[in-house]
Parts: sequence; C-alpha cells; structure tokens
Amino acid sequence: MKEAVRIVVIDDNPGSLELLSTALTRPGVAVHTALTPVDGLEVVRKLRPQLVITDLVMSGMSGLDVLQQVVRFDPSIDVLLMTAHYTTETAVEAIRNGAADYLQKPVKIAHLRERVARLLASTEQRRKLTAALLDDQDSDFEGMIARSSPMWHLFAMIQRIAPHYRSVLVHGETGTGKDLVAKALHRLSDVTGQFVVVNCSAVVETLFESELFGHVKGAFTGADRDKTGLLELANSGTLFLDEIGDMPLSTQAKLLRALQNQEFLPVGSLKLQRANVRVVAATHHDLRVSIAEGKFREDLYYRLSMVELSVPPLRERREDISLLARHFAQKFGREFHKQVTGLTPRALIVLERHTWPGNVRELEHVVGRACMMTDNVLLDVEDLPPGLIAQNGPEIEEPRQGISPLADQERRIVEEALREAGGNQSEAARRLGIGRDALRYKMKRHHL
Ligand SMILES: Nc1ncnc2c1ncn2[C@@H]1O[C@H](COP(=O)(O)OP(=O)(O)O)[C@@H](O)[C@H]1O
Ligand SMILES: [Mg+2]
Repeated sequence: MKEAVRIVVIDDNPGSLELLSTALTRPGVAVHTALTPVDGLEVVRKLRPQLVITDLVMSGMSGLDVLQQVVRFDPSIDVLLMTAHYTTETAVEAIRNGAADYLQKPVKIAHLRERVARLLASTEQRRKLTAALLDDQDSDFEGMIARSSPMWHLFAMIQRIAPHYRSVLVHGETGTGKDLVAKALHRLSDVTGQFVVVNCSAVVETLFESELFGHVKGAFTGADRDKTGLLELANSGTLFLDEIGDMPLSTQAKLLRALQNQEFLPVGSLKLQRANVRVVAATHHDLRVSIAEGKFREDLYYRLSMVELSVPPLRERREDISLLARHFAQKFGREFHKQVTGLTPRALIVLERHTWPGNVRELEHVVGRACMMTDNVLLDVEDLPPGLIAQNGPEIEEPRQGISPLADQERRIVEEALREAGGNQSEAARRLGIGRDALRYKMKRHHL
C-alpha cells in the first residue's frame, strides 16, 4: 500500500489550526496539529513528516526558529511558513534560509491546497529523480536536463523562489542555460503577462531607450508612428534582461527609475505608463568588477540582485555531459530523420574529458554536427570534430595532475550516498559509517 503523507501544522491560534487541518485532511493525508512550537517539534521528531506548516509569529519561538530546527533535524522535510506580514523581501529571506514556501495569512484554502500539492509533488519528483539516477534515465526540470547535485540545487531554488521574487540575477558563462533558467522562473511564477526578452548587447545604443520604453510619433527623426516599448509589453509579466552587463550606463539609470517607481515615460511622451514587471537579468560578467570599473551602476545591481542564482559551467558538472549528449543525439536524430539513439562509450569518454569553454551550447553543436555526419545508430569518436579528438582522444591518458584521484573518488562516493539517501544527510552519514559533522565537512570540501 502507498505510504500516507504526513503533515504537521503548528499555530498558536486554535481556530486557524482547526481550519488548516480540515482543509488538508483527506484519504492518504494525515494532518497532525500542535499549538506550540515545542510540541510541534516533538511531533516532527517522532513522525518525520514530509511537510511542516508553521505560523511565523508565535509566543515563545518564532516560525523561523522552527524552520531552523526542522532543517537541522532533517533537511529533506519541507517547511512552509505562514504570516500575516508577508513581504517579498521576508519571503525571499525565509526561502534563502531553507523554507520551501511562504504564504500570506489569512490563507485562502484553495491556494494553500495548490501550494501544498505542488510541494508534495516536488518531493515526489525528487524521489523519482533518485530512481532515475540509479538506472540512468533522462530527467528534466522545465526542459533542463541534469543529474548533478549543483543543478538540482538550482532547480529546487528556482521552484521555491518563483512565486515570490521581484527580481533575480542569473550568473553563468555563455551557453550554460541562463535563458532556460529565466523561462523556468517565468513559468513557475504564475504571472499572467508575457515573457519579454530584451537583448541588451544586440541593440544599438541610440535605439535602446526607444526599444525599452517605446516612443511617440515625432519623438525623433524617423519616428513616424507610436511604438510600444518592451517594458510595457512585459507589464504583469516577466522582463528578461539578457546580458544586462552590456546595457549602456545612461539607460541603466532610467531602467532603475522605472523599476523603482513602477512607471516610466516613453521617449518623447509626457504620459506615464505603468510597468509592473518581474525582472530576470542574466549576465556572464562579474557585475561587481563592472561596478568597480565604472561600467555598471551599483544601485541598479542591488535592485536586480535580490536573489542571485548561478548556473555552473559544464566542466564543473561532468556527470551531466553523458545525459545531455544522449538527449541532444536523440533530438537531432529525430530532426534529421536518422536512427541515432545515443553515443558509444568511447565517444562519451572523449566528451567527458573536454573542458567545454562554450558549455552546453558547444556540446549541443558538437552532437548536432555528429548527427549530421553519421549513418549509424550510435555516434562514435570519428563523428566528433578532429580538434576535439586531438585534445581528448581515447588514446590520451587521463591527466594525473590537478585533482588527486583519491579526492575524486571520495567526492563520487559521498555524492552517491547522498543520492541513495534521497538527500537525507543523517541517512547518508549512517550509510557511510561516519558522523554527520564529518559528512558535512566532506560535502563542503567537495562543494556538494
Ligand atoms: N540543462 C540543459 N538541458 C537541455 N538543454 C540545455 C540545458 N542547458 C542549456 N541547454 C541548451 O543549450 C543552449 C544554450 O543555452 P542558453 O540558455 O541559451 O545559454 P546562455 O543563455 O547561458 O548562454 C540552448 O540551446 C539550450 O536549450
Ligand atoms: Mg543567453
């Protein structure tokens, strides 16, 4: 039989507790309630629920302390905070500290059910992922293929932050998947408006402001009719500022004002336009360096970087290479009407050795080109670009310097233990026969 879902609800208001319990109880879902944080934590320790729902402001102990204790006890338990004092800033802060979600009180029942269902589904997804990892199935998050832990960390953060953010800054080298991250944030945010892309490096500086803010007829030579700007198009939706580091300084000042005031003037116009947008900005530059060089405004940086996400380069998550390569092989195989289903182990070894300065985009090109060349079911070394084979060919010995092989092995073992324990650190430590602190130390050391 399927194991029941266990939820623990903690609230010092008996009425509210009763309401939540009734709203969530159903066949297969057991809801346990507690009127004090201390009692609640005791129930959590005893039952090990999948989800804890707690009020933020209670006498004795705050919901944030409850969160901290639950996360310390078992980080795989989701904690949902409720508060009458919802602000985007406190929501983001709570999520940074490990909360799974943050809801405004009084909680609307339908909304609560939906969010709880979503959280439980995502735990379910994680479990599926663990299963998938063991037998090497594809698994994706909003179209992103990955199995490395830094990427699944990123996905969890995207899922949690999406309903709450006003602005997110996405870092990452070219080709790492920043566009996909931006789209995932938009799709999971429930906004009603459009996803509008502003490519800050492609627009000619003089035309930038009219692109972004629009203009009225006669605003400048050549403006022969009114033009709607991208900011207005994105109203109630998401404005994706791609390569924000390349935005001209003068435009940066105007953008900041528009975001702060939630309104702006089209070029040549005296009529203010509303701009209620969520902003995702992406860059491959280190903006702090750009600020130091006087190329980027510090105040705009702070406005945009309420949440910062970073997409790791492919060479720091080599576990993803074979998964991505097979995914692209099948995609291009279908596209080119070929029988391609994957790659030979030899070819995969070559790809896994490459450092991928162009990241996933480069891998996509290499596999696409190989699919074009081949008539076989599996792509082989000969189908890869000669330059890439010369650098990483199967006859080349694994480099011995750099990472010590022992550390490499340890990293793999620790990762595997965490995966098998479904991310539960206590369980992983137990399986490895070491203490939790030792495990934490190793995780830190290997950036897990
Ligand atoms: N995790 C992933 N799974 C599948 N495809 C990916 C993944 N990451 C990137 N891609 C693909 O690689 C290419 C480059 O990604 P993109 O988001 O444009 O990178 P960036 O914006 O960081 O330069 C795109 O074709 C994208 O679809
Ligand atoms: Mg991009």
